[in-house]
Amino acid sequence: SQTDRELLYKIHEVANNFYQEQMRETEEGQIIGFAYFKERELRDDIIKKFQLGYSPEQRDAFTEYALEKGYNKEILEKSGLSIFPEYAEKGVDRFRERVMFPILSFSGRVLGFGARILKNNVKAAKYLNSPETEIYHKSKVLYGLSQSKQAISKENLCLLTEGYMDVIALHQVGIENVVASSGTALTNDQIKLIKRLTENVTILFDGDAAGIKASFRSIDLLLAEGMNIRILLFPDGDDPDSFSRKHPKDFVENFIKTEAQDFVEFKADILLEEAGNDLTKQIAAIKSIVESLSYYSELKKDFYFTRISKRFGISEKSLFNEMALLKQKKV
Ligand code: CTP
Ligand code: MN
Ligand code: MN
Ligand code: MN
Ligand code: MN
Repeated sequence: SQTDRELLYKIHEVANNFYQEQMRETEEGQIIGFAYFKERELRDDIIKKFQLGYSPEQRDAFTEYALEKGYNKEILEKSGLSIFPEYAEKGVDRFRERVMFPILSFSGRVLGFGARILKNNVKAAKYLNSPETEIYHKSKVLYGLSQSKQAISKENLCLLTEGYMDVIALHQVGIENVVASSGTALTNDQIKLIKRLTENVTILFDGDAAGIKASFRSIDLLLAEGMNIRILLFPDGDDPDSFSRKHPKDFVENFIKTEAQDFVEFKADILLEEAGNDLTKQIAAIKSIVESLSYYSELKKDFYFTRISKRFGISEKSLFNEMALLKQKKV
């Protein structure tokens, strides 16, 4: 309901202030939370800009605080910030002993949190995120959009990364036109958010290449929306965060500008290399490439057909035939 939504916005604002205060004003927050961000070489102004915080170890630190402030159990539970197990008398905090990344709406309201564990290689999930609530829909937000929207418009380009720290690290080196899909396949709602600002997207994937093939579908969605997509794979397992800390700003900017490949070219490289000498796989690859190309303008299609035909020894005519078949299937 409307009142619930208003309360949910409020309680997230309260929580956001709480986690930031915990980091700045408690010994635990300094020694554990702030030290973590310092170890990752974040400057103070960037920590402030992204409103980063720390959730203390005490099981019910936030729940207790919010109850005292007059928020009731029901709304705390709805917010996903507290959990009230049936067997227990008291509620507990969802986020404990983690560094906190508030997830903001386009206009800057706190909708939820991403929370990172402090040590790698422990059994718990590296990132714990807010559950779906009345105000937070994972598939409808892009991390960093609120802080990046102006630069995206100004540069007429949106850099799309995988993670929270990628957005933050690029801001720190002065590259501010960047958002993160937070490790999931891009949705139509997220594409629409970008399209309000620009039609140009450069996708910056982690060098581990894990999700690349899985992401082809969501990239086709971008093409279908008429967006211009370039893609960049970072070398040696780097992601934008680690890469931007190894190299000076100018180098990073230049690398993004010059190394980003047109998406269809990139897709062709990956699929055809994978197909090797297997004819069936080669044909499947070509079909999939033609599918992506079908979203391009006639001029662009023509251009790519010539290139693909030369490179892979397929006649342009067969490519056009394949495209025609695809169009028939679609209607
Ligand atoms: N992610 C998540 N839950 C996980 C792992 C990842 O929600 N258990 C999301 C986070 O938004 C994360 C993004 O997917 O930022 C990318 O994952 P990954 O590359 O593994 O993490 P990094 O962002 O590189 O995190 P870090 O540098 O802190 O290790
Ligand atoms: Mn809703
Ligand atoms: Mn990754
Ligand atoms: Mn990463
Ligand atoms: Mn990383």
